[in-house]
Amino acid sequence: MTKEFKRTLVTSALPYANGPIHIGHLAGVYVPADIYARYLRLKGEEVIFIGGSDEHGIPITVKARNEGVTPQDIVDKYHHLIKDSFEQFGISFDIYSRTTSEIHKQTASEFFLKLYEKGEFIEMEAEQYYDEEAGQFLADRYIIGTCPICGYEHAYGDQCEECGTSLTPTDLINPKSMLSGSTPVMRKTKHWYLPLNKHEEWLRKWILEEHKEWRPNVYGQCKSWLDLGLQPRAVSRDLDWGIPVPLKGAEGKVLYVWFDAPIGYISNTKELCLQNPEKYGNWEKWWKDRDTRLIHFIGKDNIVFHCIIFPVMLKAEGTFILPDNVPANEFLNLEGEKISTSRNWAVWLHEYLEDFPGKQDVLRYVLTAIAPETKDNDFTWKDFQTRNNNELVGVLGNFINRVLILTQKHFDNKVPPRGSLTDYDKKTLEELANLRKAVEKNLDNFRFREAQQEAMNFAHLGNKYLAETEPWKTIKTDTNRTATILNTALQLVANLSIVFEPFLPFSAEKIRRFLRIDNLSWNRLSDADILPVGYELGKSKLLFEKIEDDVIENQIQRLLVIKKANEAKEYKAKPVKETIPFEVFEKLDIRVGTVLECEKLPKSDKLLRFVLDDGRGKRTIVAGLAKWYPHPEELVGKQVCFIANLEPRKLRGIVSEGMILSAENPDGSSVLIEPMKNVFPGSRVV
Ligand code: MF3
Ligand code: ZN
Repeated sequence: MTKEFKRTLVTSALPYANGPIHIGHLAGVYVPADIYARYLRLKGEEVIFIGGSDEHGIPITVKARNEGVTPQDIVDKYHHLIKDSFEQFGISFDIYSRTTSEIHKQTASEFFLKLYEKGEFIEMEAEQYYDEEAGQFLADRYIIGTCPICGYEHAYGDQCEECGTSLTPTDLINPKSMLSGSTPVMRKTKHWYLPLNKHEEWLRKWILEEHKEWRPNVYGQCKSWLDLGLQPRAVSRDLDWGIPVPLKGAEGKVLYVWFDAPIGYISNTKELCLQNPEKYGNWEKWWKDRDTRLIHFIGKDNIVFHCIIFPVMLKAEGTFILPDNVPANEFLNLEGEKISTSRNWAVWLHEYLEDFPGKQDVLRYVLTAIAPETKDNDFTWKDFQTRNNNELVGVLGNFINRVLILTQKHFDNKVPPRGSLTDYDKKTLEELANLRKAVEKNLDNFRFREAQQEAMNFAHLGNKYLAETEPWKTIKTDTNRTATILNTALQLVANLSIVFEPFLPFSAEKIRRFLRIDNLSWNRLSDADILPVGYELGKSKLLFEKIEDDVIENQIQRLLVIKKANEAKEYKAKPVKETIPFEVFEKLDIRVGTVLECEKLPKSDKLLRFVLDDGRGKRTIVAGLAKWYPHPEELVGKQVCFIANLEPRKLRGIVSEGMILSAENPDGSSVLIEPMKNVFPGSRVV
């Protein structure tokens, strides 16, 4: 059933221009999309790779309000930050534009009008909260009130961030407008809806029958949406930031951001083709020719928009193609926690580029190695270091470096002649064809992490070849044999410059410089005769460097500081225990004692043995405080509080006569309670 296509249009989700790019975006969308686009280009296929900023929608206006600037200020700032960091990171978009462009405004308006004129929308009036003081309808995010589930007083109209429940604004108790602080009222408002329900039949056939090859996570999400039954979706909003609804009587209404944003793929294609018609041709061939294959790279939170809503828009318009595949990734976590822009829990691309200059490929490599293709995955700095040191330096760099050094040292930096090949040499070279097939099969099926592993197998093959043939030994006895070995190994190095071009473009270019060769087509991959005998190679350096512990420690420290700050911000004391009658409290005998002795219990890293003067004699108490008081002898002479009438308990063979009181921090650390002034030992705490 696989169709032959003439060209491929690769799109990557347009990130909201309300914050910088982080590793979650990269691993989920941009790195795989870039690998794929580079691979197709290298094969000589006709391909364009579209990117851009998503500059409308509530996330932008919320950010602008919080910072006291205009939405335009926000998108200008982040569009450029994002664009520059992508460029430095080697994401090879053919165009990276924005949805505030004139051409996009026009394209999206026309698209809307066409559907409107074809009768593809339904118009409906609905009640919505309106802020009479601000004179505006309120987006769900702009209404704050008490959560009906947990009682949290600052829940948003779409979600309570305390208990995580998703809400609608009418669920909120005591709703208030975030714009003016006034109580909003219900008012009727008209919107245009896309009746998704009308499209169920063809969607079911198209996805569930004709695209069984889509990733299980994508297919599964589509199936459950379709099985639940689709509802009409509003494609307009009452808002003052966005593309105005191009109809009379629609003042104050804009296109819903998820209506305009995917049209951005089309607008950006138009812009690209207008910039360079000779190279890219007419935009319509990319969107309307059945021989074009459309591939959307996205994260899992975008699946319904790219697999159901946008295809319905395209189909309703009538002249567009539909996506052939939508390789959506799951999420990447950071050090075991969900990445969060608002909590600053992320590794930001622009900061990485500053902290690790010239190491774009290290991050690209790691993010592909841990790509969350089938399940959520975790980025840790330790793993980043290990993969760099063991795999990039230890395997890939090591092989290339050894071959180049031996060639410089023994053959004047020229490709040595190849004598007769042993069976082992032949077997090694033949293996290249299998490896190439394995890489291709994985890339063709959007399995980027396996594809990269197979590319790495070219380097493993090389290292194995050197270990078996030992050219550093043969050089002492047999120059001809050594020449053959190094010739073979150099051909492997040339192959590495091809196979890693999609994954590690900066390093592939370096290898080419070491070899003094041009960018080679993918079709040369597995060729054993790339470098001619006698060819003089270029200057070589180390391909990768070890990353030291202190560099990694710095990054981990930075995250720890953020974690502490978040904990402090989000800290809330534990709920109060059940009420007790006074008589119960009275039964407790809490007292102050003076520490006479204090020492760690042998063979325990938790327990301290206290001997207290309790005013009547000596009292021994064992307490689990050793971790927080590493110098227990310093406690001698201090006063602490203890419960005097607790049943004695035996701990590690010692009878503990009571319990020492301490206060517990959220991180589990404990602090002893000391009276503000010295009192007589044995004084009661009441
Ligand atoms: N801005 C959206 C997000 O970050 C993605 C938009 S993809 C689009 O989730 F191209 F369809 F716009
Ligand atoms: Zn709640």
